[in-house]
Amino acid sequence: MEKDRRSRRRTGHLAAPGIRSVLLAACVIAANLGGGAVAQAPKIADELRTLSANSADIADGKRLAQSICAPCHGADGVSQKEGVPHLAGQRAPYLYLELRAYQTGLRGATPMRNTVTALNNEALVKVAAYFASLDPPPSSTANVAVADALKDGEAAAASCGGCHGEAGITKTAGFPSLVGLDPKYLVTSMKMYRSGQRKSDLMTAMVANLADSALNNIALFYALQKPAPAQSPAAGDRAAGQAAATPCAGCHGDTGASGNPDIPSLAGQDATYLATAMLAYRQGARTDETMKGMVAALDEATIKNLSAWYAAQEPKAPVNVRKPLSAEEWAQRCDRCHGTNGNSTDPRLPALAGQRFDYLDAVLKDYRGRMRKNPQMAAMSDVLSDGDIRNLAAYYSRQKAKAVMFIAIPSK
Ligand code: HEC
Ligand code: HEC
Ligand code: HEC
Ligand code: HEC
Repeated sequence: MEKDRRSRRRTGHLAAPGIRSVLLAACVIAANLGGGAVAQAPKIADELRTLSANSADIADGKRLAQSICAPCHGADGVSQKEGVPHLAGQRAPYLYLELRAYQTGLRGATPMRNTVTALNNEALVKVAAYFASLDPPPSSTANVAVADALKDGEAAAASCGGCHGEAGITKTAGFPSLVGLDPKYLVTSMKMYRSGQRKSDLMTAMVANLADSALNNIALFYALQKPAPAQSPAAGDRAAGQAAATPCAGCHGDTGASGNPDIPSLAGQDATYLATAMLAYRQGARTDETMKGMVAALDEATIKNLSAWYAAQEPKAPVNVRKPLSAEEWAQRCDRCHGTNGNSTDPRLPALAGQRFDYLDAVLKDYRGRMRKNPQMAAMSDVLSDGDIRNLAAYYSRQKAKAVMFIAIPSK
C-alpha cells in the first residue's frame, strides 16, 4: 500500500517542472508520522523550502503566527471560527503556495489579502513550516444531516402520484406520465408553471412553493423510475398516426424517445394529454413557436391518431441520467489527488481530513463559482450539486487527520 503510493508519486501527476525534478532526483517518501519535516535537495522551489525549515525557522514562524494569525486561526492552528480553516498539520508547501496566492491576488478578496501583503517571502516560508509542524486538528463529530437528492425527490413527489400515477406512470386520461422524460425538460416545465408562463392552475398550485432544489430532486426521482407506457385509454388510428409522425421524428425520435434533454419524449405518454398539448400549441395556450408551427396545419383527427401512435410506443429511460454518487463514492475520486481519506501525501496538495465543515463547504462552492481559481478543482466541482458538496464537506471533516513527514533522499 505504502509502496504503491510511493511509486505512483514518482511517475505521478505533478505538473510543475520544479517539483518534478526534485521528485525524480530524490526519492520522497511519505510516512504517517506526526510533526516535523526534513528535506534535502539542491536548488528547490520556494514552496519546497518549507520542508527544510529548521527549528529556528519554525520558532520564528511561531512568533509571527502568534502575533498575527492566532486571533483567527487559533494559537495551535485549530480554528474556532466559522469560515476560517484549520492550518495545523496542513502540508507546508501547500500553505506557502496559498499565502502566495493571497499576495498575488489569485485567491480572492478575503481577510487574508490584507494580512499577508506586508509579509516577505522568508516570513511566508517560516509561518507555513510552523503551522505544518503542529498536531493536526481533531476530526469533527458534528452531526451534519446527509443530503440525499433521490430520497428528498421521492418525498417531495409524494403529492404528485394521485394525478401522475405511482412512480410517474399515469392511470388517468388527461394527466401526463412523468417517466421517460429528461430531468432538464421536467425542471423547465415545472418552472414554467411556477412562473405562469405555462398555464395550468392545478400545476401552478402544485409547484408554487417548491424551491429550485426541490424541483431538481423531483425531476431526478422521476427520471430514474423505470419507464412503462401510460395505463390510460388511447383511441385513434395508430397506422395513420405513424404516417403523420414522419416530420416529428427529427426532434422527438423515430419512435417518440427523444435523445435531446430539451425535447420531451412522447413514447408511452398518455394519449389524451398528448392531444391536449397539441391543441394548446395550436390555440396559443402553450407558446413554444416551433411546436406552434408543427401543429398549425393538423386537424383534430390527425392529432388523435398521432397521440394514439405515440402512446403505444415503448418509453425509454432518458439518456445520461445516473443515480447520484454517495459521499464515499465521490471521495474515492477526490482521494486520487488528496490522499487516502483526504490525507494528502503530495506536498503541494491540501489535506482535507479533519478540516472544518463550514470551510470545506464554502471553498468547494468557491471553486464551482470560479471565485477560487484552479483548473483541476474547477473540473471536479462543476459536477457537484449543493447536496454533494455538503456531504463531501461533512465526510472529510469527520476523517482522521494525519500529519505527513516528507523526506527527500538525494539520489546517488
Ligand atoms: C482576520 C482573520 C485572519 C487572520 C488574521 C489570518 N487569517 Fe488566514 N484565513 C482567514 C480566512 C477567513 C481564510 C479563508 C479565506 C478563503 O476562503 O480564502 C483564511 C485562509 C488561510 C489560508 C488558506 C488555507 C487553506 O486551507 O487553503 C492560509 C494558508 C492562511 N489563512 C494562513 C494565515 C496566516 C499564516 C496568517 C498569519 C500570518 C493568517 N492566515 C491570518 C482569516 C484570517
Ligand atoms: C391535481 C392533479 C395534479 C397533481 C397533484 C400534480 N399534477 Fe402535474 N400535471 C397535472 C396536469 C393536469 C398536467 C397537464 C397540464 C398542462 O396541460 O399543461 C400536469 C403536468 C405536469 C408536468 C408537465 C409534463 C409534460 O410532459 O410537460 C409536470 C412536469 C408535472 N405535472 C409535475 C408534477 C409534479 C412534480 C407534481 C407534484 C409536486 C404534480 N405534477 C402534481 C395535474 C397534476
Ligand atoms: C424542431 C423540433 C420539433 C419538431 C419537428 C416537433 N417537435 Fe414537438 N416539441 C418540441 C419541443 C422543443 C417541445 C417542448 C416545447 C415546450 O416547452 O412547450 C415539444 C413538445 C411537444 C409536445 C408536448 C409534450 C409534453 O410532454 O408536454 C407534443 C405533444 C409534441 N411536441 C408533439 C409533436 C408532434 C406530433 C410533432 C410532429 C407533428 C412534433 N412535436 C414536432 C420540438 C419539436
Ligand atoms: C486532479 C487532482 C484533484 C482531484 C481529483 C481533486 N482535487 Fe481538490 N484540489 C486539487 C488541487 C491542485 C488543489 C489546490 C488548488 C488551489 O490551490 O486552489 C485542491 C484543493 C481542494 C480544496 C481546498 C482545500 C483548502 O484547504 O482550501 C478542497 C476542499 C478540495 N480540493 C476538495 C476536493 C474534493 C471534494 C474532490 C473530489 C470531488 C477533489 N478535491 C478532487 C486537486 C484535486
